[in-house]
Amino acid sequence: MGIKFFASIPPAIAAAMILAAPAMAQGNVKKGETVYEEYCAACHFEFKANGNNVGPNLSSVIGRKAGTFKGYSYSSSMEEAAHIWTEAALNRFLSGPQKMVRGNIMGFDGFDDANMRADVIAYLKQQQGK
Ligand code: HEC
Repeated sequence: MGIKFFASIPPAIAAAMILAAPAMAQGNVKKGETVYEEYCAACHFEFKANGNNVGPNLSSVIGRKAGTFKGYSYSSSMEEAAHIWTEAALNRFLSGPQKMVRGNIMGFDGFDDANMRADVIAYLKQQQGK
């Protein structure tokens, strides 16, 4: 059934579906902390008390509306982005920040590696409210 279903989708549409929904792997918090330290910590604080850095605070980003952390001066692109940062939205953003929020000023191009995205999202999930 699964194979038949996919076989019946024209390849162009199947490709568009894959682009629209990047693979979401199961994340590992420990690995995510390492990824975070290497790729995010230069610009973002993950503990609320530290406030904003070059980028906005990420201590409770999951469930937050894009562009709304208090006291951070976002680009108009991020301010106008109306989505909520769900895990799926973060996965999409981290697979191509400019593709998802065109014109945002985050100086980071994202990861092609679905595991790295899942790991860093798992770490951010663990930082909720910290
Ligand atoms: C070179 C600095 C830099 C790096 C590295 C960086 N960011 Fe950012 N990030 C920013 C800036 C600046 C913004 C604000 C973008 C805007 O306003 O357009 C931002 C915005 C964000 C947002 C939107 C937050 C909100 O409140 O709407 C998320 C989520 C995010 N970054 C996650 C990450 C993650 C996860 C990493 C590491 C994988 C990362 N960033 C790496 C600078 C950076």
